[in-house]
Amino acid sequence: MGIYATPPTTTATNPMDLNFELTKSRIMIVDDEPVNIKVVKKYLRDAGYQHFITTSDSQIALGKIRHEIPDLVLLDVMMPHVNGLEILEAMRWSEQLQCIPTLILTASSDAEMKLKALEHGAVDFLAKPVDPSELQLRVRNALIAKVHQNKLADYSRQLEHEVSLRTAELVSSREEVIRCLATAAECRDKETGNHVIRVGLYSGILARELGMDEYTASLIEQAAVLHDVGKIGIPDSILLKPGRLTAEEINIMRQHCEIGHRILTMKDDERIASGMRSPILKVAATIAMSHHEKWDGSGYPHGLTREHIPIEGRIAAVADVFDALSSTRAYKGAYDLEQCFIELIEGQETHFDPLVVHAFFNRRNEIVKVYEDYSDEPKTSFASHPARIDNQPVLVS
Ligand SMILES: [Fe+2]
Repeated sequence: MGIYATPPTTTATNPMDLNFELTKSRIMIVDDEPVNIKVVKKYLRDAGYQHFITTSDSQIALGKIRHEIPDLVLLDVMMPHVNGLEILEAMRWSEQLQCIPTLILTASSDAEMKLKALEHGAVDFLAKPVDPSELQLRVRNALIAKVHQNKLADYSRQLEHEVSLRTAELVSSREEVIRCLATAAECRDKETGNHVIRVGLYSGILARELGMDEYTASLIEQAAVLHDVGKIGIPDSILLKPGRLTAEEINIMRQHCEIGHRILTMKDDERIASGMRSPILKVAATIAMSHHEKWDGSGYPHGLTREHIPIEGRIAAVADVFDALSSTRAYKGAYDLEQCFIELIEGQETHFDPLVVHAFFNRRNEIVKVYEDYSDEPKTSFASHPARIDNQPVLVS
């Protein structure tokens, strides 16, 4: 059934189907006089009902109702030990039992008792001695209402299920689109493989260690994969240049931060106006702009210092640099992990927020697991201390 499936018809059920459905109903009869149970049962059997649960012991009645979950309860009021009103009241306090329609059987004309029974949710009364026709009609009416109520509940459950399926599909599609966009940028670069995935996962781990709630950490994890999306806008002659970049080319290369920010905030006004501003793209834009800022203010594009750098950017900086150091690139080999750790420690207070570096080492095992699980193939570490070829900054990414 699709999400826009036709809702159940509650007014035009085929009478044959309805009668068949009613005969399947499970009716519970609670009366301290076994003979009364016998009579009521006989009248209902005559009307085609087949399934009964009965008890003449009021003390076990509630437990039995809870265990059997009947479609209808016929409840005597005047019973020893526990009277019908007490059972009815207990049912109304139970989420599971409060939907079960209850008909009160009473020989009393006590108006106050009837009022109380109605207050506790009784749907109808039947005077004793019971008239068979009246009994059959009142039971039928109560059960018809219950059948419709069940159909609506089923429909509601189906809708909830469909909505959760569609939501999961949307989340999955969104993640795919984000990864495709990130990979598109990455494919233009010499960086290959799982770089963006690793940077995302490292960032998520760091965000969680820094005490962020799961929603925020997950946003950062997904958004960080787009940190270098602005490289789409860098000319091939610079992006793919094998040799050393000139000062001017480095400046152009550095524009990938602003380009990325522009891509990710494009038509932002329109998105806000339509109420569809994506929190992930918002965080991604922040990361794109700030992941090359440095703690001491020597980074780019704005030379921000310390806490002026958005925390998302400070997190992505550590993730990105660790990944650049620990991966093989066209212009350099991969550092071994110990050397990467030394670089991060040495970069505290200058390049990196020390708290983020601290978080990195608190979660070092988790980070190394991502490094191993998502390593690029072939995984060849050809230099413990790789030469930084032709003065090309290893960390320029
Ligand atoms: Fe970058």
